Amino acid sequence: MQSRPAFYAIACMAISALPLSGAGMAQDQLSPPANGQVHPDQWPRVAYPRIVAPEGEARVQDLLSQMTVEQKVGQIIQADIGSVTPEEVCEYHLGSVLNGGNSGPGGNDLAPAPEWLALADAFYTASMECPSGGPAIPIMWGTDAVHGHSNIVGATIFPHNVGLGAARDPDLIERIGRATAIEIRVTGQEWTFAPTVTVPQDYRWGRAYEGYSSDPALVASYVGRMVRGLQGPASTAPILAGPHVAASTKHFLADGATVDGKDQGDAAISELELRLVHGAPYIPAMENGVATVMTSFSSWQGVKISGNKGLVTDILKDRLGFGGLVITDWNAHGQIAGCSNSSCPIAIDAGLDMLMAPDTWRDLYASTLAEVKAGTISMARLDDAVARVLRVKQRLGLFEAGKPSTRPLSGDYDLLGAPEHRAVAREAVRKSLVLLKNTGVLPLKPSARILVAGDGADDIARQSGGWTLSWQGTGLDNSDFPGATSLWRGIERAVSAAGGSAELAPDGAFERRPDAAIVVFGETPYAEFQGDIPSLQLRPELRWPIETMRKLKEAGIPVVAVMITGRPLYVNEALNEADAFVTAWLPGSEGGGVADLLFAGADGNPAYDFQGRLPTAWPATARHDGPTLFPFGYGLTYADGAQSWETLPQDSQVADDGRGNGVYFDKGSVAAPWSLVVSQIDGSDSLRLTTVPATGLSGRATITAADHGVQEGARQFAIEAGPGGGAVEIGNDNPTDLSRETNGDVLLLTTLRIDAPPTAPVSMSLRCGASDCGRPLPIPALATLDRGQWRILGVPLKCFAAAGADMTQITAPFRLTTEGAIGFSLSRVALGSAGEADVVAQCPVR
Ligand code: BGC
Ligand code: BGC
Repeated sequence: MQSRPAFYAIACMAISALPLSGAGMAQDQLSPPANGQVHPDQWPRVAYPRIVAPEGEARVQDLLSQMTVEQKVGQIIQADIGSVTPEEVCEYHLGSVLNGGNSGPGGNDLAPAPEWLALADAFYTASMECPSGGPAIPIMWGTDAVHGHSNIVGATIFPHNVGLGAARDPDLIERIGRATAIEIRVTGQEWTFAPTVTVPQDYRWGRAYEGYSSDPALVASYVGRMVRGLQGPASTAPILAGPHVAASTKHFLADGATVDGKDQGDAAISELELRLVHGAPYIPAMENGVATVMTSFSSWQGVKISGNKGLVTDILKDRLGFGGLVITDWNAHGQIAGCSNSSCPIAIDAGLDMLMAPDTWRDLYASTLAEVKAGTISMARLDDAVARVLRVKQRLGLFEAGKPSTRPLSGDYDLLGAPEHRAVAREAVRKSLVLLKNTGVLPLKPSARILVAGDGADDIARQSGGWTLSWQGTGLDNSDFPGATSLWRGIERAVSAAGGSAELAPDGAFERRPDAAIVVFGETPYAEFQGDIPSLQLRPELRWPIETMRKLKEAGIPVVAVMITGRPLYVNEALNEADAFVTAWLPGSEGGGVADLLFAGADGNPAYDFQGRLPTAWPATARHDGPTLFPFGYGLTYADGAQSWETLPQDSQVADDGRGNGVYFDKGSVAAPWSLVVSQIDGSDSLRLTTVPATGLSGRATITAADHGVQEGARQFAIEAGPGGGAVEIGNDNPTDLSRETNGDVLLLTTLRIDAPPTAPVSMSLRCGASDCGRPLPIPALATLDRGQWRILGVPLKCFAAAGADMTQITAPFRLTTEGAIGFSLSRVALGSAGEADVVAQCPVR
């Protein structure tokens, strides 16, 4: 979209201000050389504040001189609470623990707050009352409090960063940071892996919503304020003495610049773009003394950041002056060339001070210790890393803080979701809403009869997005959000307070004819790579509320569309149908903030005006490099009055047939435009899977998330026998022509695991148009696969053709049917070659 040309304009202006030494330099800087070499002298020098007083530094040095080498190695390793016990923290002298997105005390992600605090005490006590040699060093616990203390049931969930970017309010950001820090302190953690200061340039990236904006200046204007809100002012005063925690700016560097928006991919950009766009937020982070920096999983110019000494040591530490600790991301060290999850001296040499080794810490500890003893890792580097860890602990005041439960704010559970924090979150929701269209229907009269439709209207998990209670934000319902308000509840309250009436009907089938309808639609939760998409469009199975809008319009009912989304997407159909269109982003727990903006007060005037402005351009088509519909900064207000609307072309300019790369289902999610459907063999009793866990076939089918390759990288199906049998299908309504592939000896590859062997024959088939096409192919191999083993089953497309399928008209490239019971997990369905298959099905003899 707009970002590249705009960036190059900025870059070219900036070049003239650079201290250039040679005439040819500007040109060289614009064309990316490959290999990740840096020029530190081109980066600014930043004055990182003094964070440790001389006495504190003396203590750091004193501790270092007393520590055993085992203790030193333990200090630079972080384990996940799901894979380490307090006893092991003592035995291995671990410096830190974290809770990953799916971890919680006792293996329960949704554990009540007191259990988090009790576990914090247990880890602390293990670190301090550890009989093995060396001085006692308190442990610190890091958590992804990325939009509020978002792993904790009952905490205030603030809008995700993309919405905050729309708010254009740095002061609000600091208040959010402060409220978040207070809530973290209640459950005893000292460190949050936030803020994310990415500057996403391609919103197909599944993490784009974690960034405030694609504009470096906007991101930079927030970073210092968020760091101050979380940590307090940069000084030598102990952080924990105030209502604060240590922050972490992530993911250093250019996580938002990867090619095609691929998570953990490669940023093929020049050093100039690296510095001016992606480096910009790190300047205020340094100036405000951010305590920690997390490196990115991704690469720059083909080299993994976590192994790039030039970036981590020469630039971040030496040039930008960073005085805190640098931590790797989740087993990211294992992705560095020459490393594995269990050994990575390269990362330590590059300047990493702590390795996040959630479940691999034991082996990593052993190898690192051996590498230090063998001299592969120098003692000087180890001492520097340990000193940085100790400095952060000193700065926190951790040595004096006592057990987590004895610290200020600890155990004050009323502070989780406290009214004053929720008020800040609701203000943030109000300020983040962006009005893209209003032909005059807004503001609504609250005394009217209002219909609320759409599948997202009464779903707090959905409006909160990923990194909420669970990693992907899935598997939750409203009961997991005590004290929170769904968009529907917020509307209902506003309307009933003003004497109107509200009706919730997700499919739009109202009981009493409404004066106006609010239709809530948009994305479902995702995190990290699970949210990567090939083009900027809403998944087909999430588009049906647009049809609801159309029907309501036809019935003469004015429609307000409210979109829940982590990113701008091509939704011209919805923009055309609705009379007003509000982008709500991922507003979090305070859905009442949406109603605040939609309704007028008793005097007919709205109590608040819209102030949200687009944090990145909104696309006119689904092409990420296509034209812009609404530019960065766009947003209507009530003061603008009603606006006329010219119908937009309804052409996504992107093939909606999923044929592009022949991947239909991967890592637990279906690729656009496909849907995953469970039904009877004849298609009746069908369930379109949008979220798991789910139940289909009138209770005979249970679908849950399973792990494969990555966490929740598969869907698990448990199907019982019953009338009509069972079918699992990947399909969509627009036929795809697979004749070329069939000709080319391509196979349908299904990566699956049999969990409960089939009790009756299993077949595979395709769908052409609306019905099964050709004879189903019996797949006896499925009955013989070892239970519990992942296998790639290949079925040559030509077998389907031979069985009578019209390969030019495929509406379902995958259909598995059985009359009996079966349990299996599915992680990937894609086209591929015989060499990729473990088992190749034979075409039936004709
Ligand atoms: C963890 C997340 C982590 C992810 C990385 C998950 O298992 O819960 O915290 O970010 O793995 O792939
Ligand atoms: C994510 C980080 C997160 C970490 C711990 C990683 O997979 O990339 O953003 O802080 O997991 O959960």
